[in-house]
Amino acid sequence: MSFRQRYTGLIERYRDRLPVSDDTRIISLGEGNTPLIKLNNIPRSLGKEVDIYVKYEGLNPTGSFKDRGMTMAVTKAVEEGSKAIICASTGNTSASAAAYAARAGLTAFVLIPDGKIAQGKLAQAMMEGAVVIQVNGNFDDGMRLVKEVAKEAPVTIVNSINPYRLQGQKTAAFEIVEELERAPDFHCLPVGNAGNITAHWIGYSEYAADDCGHVTDACSLCDGHCRYAGGPLSGPKPKMVGYQASGSAPFMRGAMVDNPETVATAIRIGHPQSWDNAWIVNKESGGWFDECDDEEILAAQKLLAENEGIFCEPASAISLAGAMRDIKSGKIPEGSTIVCTLTGHGLKDPDTAIAQSTAPVVKIDAEMTQVKKAILDNM
Ligand code: F0G
Repeated sequence: MSFRQRYTGLIERYRDRLPVSDDTRIISLGEGNTPLIKLNNIPRSLGKEVDIYVKYEGLNPTGSFKDRGMTMAVTKAVEEGSKAIICASTGNTSASAAAYAARAGLTAFVLIPDGKIAQGKLAQAMMEGAVVIQVNGNFDDGMRLVKEVAKEAPVTIVNSINPYRLQGQKTAAFEIVEELERAPDFHCLPVGNAGNITAHWIGYSEYAADDCGHVTDACSLCDGHCRYAGGPLSGPKPKMVGYQASGSAPFMRGAMVDNPETVATAIRIGHPQSWDNAWIVNKESGGWFDECDDEEILAAQKLLAENEGIFCEPASAISLAGAMRDIKSGKIPEGSTIVCTLTGHGLKDPDTAIAQSTAPVVKIDAEMTQVKKAILDNM
């Protein structure tokens, strides 16, 4: 009998592609290696011949893709002798920063918009011992303050303007290419600060650059080191498609938005930090930006849960909401392979889920006849 090697996180897995040395103390919670789930029922209901996969990043240790970047950012902060980290956050970054700081023995300061973060995320940051600073303002205000304070205080910023964050997050693209044995034709993501869409493009580009077009392991071009050695290769890089909530869609407006609003609080951001990078990704990949309104976002979240059994948070569902619309219109053509990133777990935001749920909740006395009736009435 052979045993599978224990998975110990994405830095160990992709060590050769990340800025770490043999001496680096790795701060990991086993992040990455998330499932790529092929949707069955939703593509059928669209009546189009497409393959849709969702990359379920909600199954990372703190329930969002942020852990991919945080393992790198905190590992490097420790290596550089930092004692404290700081971030502004709509919730997920703060939960992740708090967890990795706890693991590393650092202090985490998290600035969150007062009253505008999902309960699950707040619970995480509080349980994991972060210093929670509630700002009477939005994410963009918090980000501005974090940048200013970091000039004076001995704290390391772990928002995605920290370049190590994007290095960690690029590994999601590696996992997808390895599993599909090619890049998808389209990769759809929610966009807030646009760090993640940028990170994915870095990942896909690095992988594609490794492809020397060889056909055998004894290839003289790559000496058999090419990532695709022994495997088939097609589809070098995807078109990157970024969706924003209509009330906070600076990429659609072509300008910053001062008072962003959306039910998808994770992407309630009007001043994206990776503005220039996102436009480069857009141009280089031949993709596009689009927007979805709150109703479409919540409908997609529910559809995914009801029809496929996958529960993601509202911001994540926008990748599927937008993709479905573009598949229906033909902008994403039949025959395409599409990956939608589900950035965060549905349990992050129970209030929004319960508020929009129409599931029958039947209250009964603890009696057999009443249970039977409840079953028969709902068959
Ligand atoms: N989806 C979720 C669930 C998020 O939490 C975020 C960002 C995004 C998508 C957008 O990713 O910013 O790289 O374009 N959340 C940040 C936070 C802002 O503070 O948790 P992006």
